[in-house]
Amino acid sequence: MKKVVIAIDGPAGAGKSTVAKIISQKLNINYIDSGAMYRAITYKVLQKKIDITDENKIIEISRNSDIDFEDNNIYLDGKIVNEEIRDLSVSSLVSNIAQIKEVREVMVSLQRKMGEKYSVIMDGRDIGSYVFPNADYKFFLTASVKERAYRRYIELKSKGYEVTIDEIIKDIENRDKIDSQREFAPLIKADDAIEINTSGKSIDDVVSKILEYIK
Ligand code: CDP
Ligand code: CDP
Repeated sequence: MKKVVIAIDGPAGAGKSTVAKIISQKLNINYIDSGAMYRAITYKVLQKKIDITDENKIIEISRNSDIDFEDNNIYLDGKIVNEEIRDLSVSSLVSNIAQIKEVREVMVSLQRKMGEKYSVIMDGRDIGSYVFPNADYKFFLTASVKERAYRRYIELKSKGYEVTIDEIIKDIENRDKIDSQREFAPLIKADDAIEINTSGKSIDDVVSKILEYIK
């Protein structure tokens, strides 16, 4: 198979990472969760108790961090941080950090290197619109805020996180707003992306729909 780049964008809880992971297994290509990279930097900023208004310090951290993916694990400076980066403390801050231009430059450069080296399915906010404008396939997943929040609520509760549905709705609405209004590479559907409204659709429905286009 020739090298392919598949971009999956959309807001939080639209189902991007779940379907991207399944498709990566079906096509035997790498899955890259670009959001996890911004989350990892945010986690490190929190761990180091950096003042979140200190942009220079945050930029320095993003430039001096080692982020890598292996076997669907995310490594931050050599340590697996899959669980830590999903905490609501990270979610509630990540969009603020992801709007810093220099932080994005570091992450985008890493993402492009991954897409140059091997076939990838990458999910995020700006993958089809900015990171890989020439991606072979682009999809944009949506769903109502209510459905996205409910999905995330069920997921976090099942993993033992103490959260309320109201907290999740607030987090998702806040991130949707910052992510779509930021100046650099905002959350936007690329003109040539295929939009799929996943409200009321099962994961299998969405996976099949995407595979129809790729085959
Ligand atoms: O999994 P969830 O949809 O909650 O979010 P995520 O994909 O883990 O992304 C977390 C945050 O990282 C988003 O809310 C954005 O602020 C930022 N992000 C971004 O700016 N650009 C990307 N390509 C991916 C994520
Ligand atoms: O990556 P993104 O934030 O777009 O969403 P996700 O983490 O893949 O999906 C959030 C939750 O919704 C997961 O627990 C999925 O199992 C669930 N989901 C669903 O119930 N129905 C779908 N069509 C897609 C995802």
